[in-house]
Amino acid sequence: MSCHVPVLLGEVLEFLQPKPGGVYFDGTFGGGGHTQAILKASSPNGMVIASDRDDSAVARGALHFSDTMDSRLKLFCGRFDEVGSFFQGKFDGALLDLGISSDQIMDEKRGFSFMREGHLDMRMDLTMKTTAADLINHSSEAELIRILSTYGEEHRSKRLARAFVEHRRETPFRSTKELVRVVEKVKGRESGHLHPATKTFQALRIAVNQELDFLRKGVEPIVDQLAPGGRLCVISFHSLEDRIVKETFRRLSGLCRCPEKIPLCVCNPVRSVRVLTKKPVKAGREEMAANPRSRSAKLRVVERI
Ligand SMILES: C[S@@+](CC[C@H](N)C(=O)[O-])C[C@H]1O[C@@H](n2cnc3c(N)ncnc32)[C@H](O)[C@@H]1O
Repeated sequence: MSCHVPVLLGEVLEFLQPKPGGVYFDGTFGGGGHTQAILKASSPNGMVIASDRDDSAVARGALHFSDTMDSRLKLFCGRFDEVGSFFQGKFDGALLDLGISSDQIMDEKRGFSFMREGHLDMRMDLTMKTTAADLINHSSEAELIRILSTYGEEHRSKRLARAFVEHRRETPFRSTKELVRVVEKVKGRESGHLHPATKTFQALRIAVNQELDFLRKGVEPIVDQLAPGGRLCVISFHSLEDRIVKETFRRLSGLCRCPEKIPLCVCNPVRSVRVLTKKPVKAGREEMAANPRSRSAKLRVVERI
């Protein structure tokens, strides 16, 4: 069983309008909460093609959904930018719910949580070579500053990077708590409503999993596989993710991207989607109170023309 609570579930269903006989793609299966709701709304014969780059999410899902596996749910271990390699047909709707799941955070062996003692790993996909320990022990100080300030929006990136480099000279980082202790030495134990290590952990996780690169690569292939009228919903949790989604949607909606100074358009925009959300949709107060993860969630949606 998964402990992940899906965010913006009602809003996603409202946009996707799953129907019997429809085929839907869930590119970030996680605990399967969105998939389950799509299967229910498209019953008795709607299909979900789902994927996750984390093989433990796929294994848990295969057990939990054993009733519908193969008949109505096809579950693959893979990244969503590779969708064409595991399904070649058209989708009536698709969803990406980015980031990590509560199941991944709660599993201390994975090293995603600053609250739990664990090996500093943070790979969603265990076939990837570089762990968080590798990054923090072997990146240059300048690279650590870049990772912390860009992916973590950490204001104290320089002081932290310096402290990491000094610490690893004596003892290479191995565990989550070791990293937390060094962060706390620099930032103090309390810093506002966030745990002092939140931004460091977020930054390392995004870098280890190259999350922004795969998002940049992943949206267009999914849009290409949408049937006319099919919708793609993307939920992001980080301002850089949201910017990538917004800009990709603008480009695919045919808006000219030439600099204002150029008198004639040279970017040859092609229009393949209509943007349905001028502003991102956010969780309502009740959901934010019940599920703190939803507070930073932003949903953007396009419809295939
Ligand atoms: C926020 S969780 C999804 C939760 C899910 N919607 C639910 O209701 O349970 C994000 C999941 O996406 C997976 N993931 C992140 N980036 C991915 C990618 N590029 N390709 C495939 N899966 C990815 C993570 O491993 C994680 O399991």
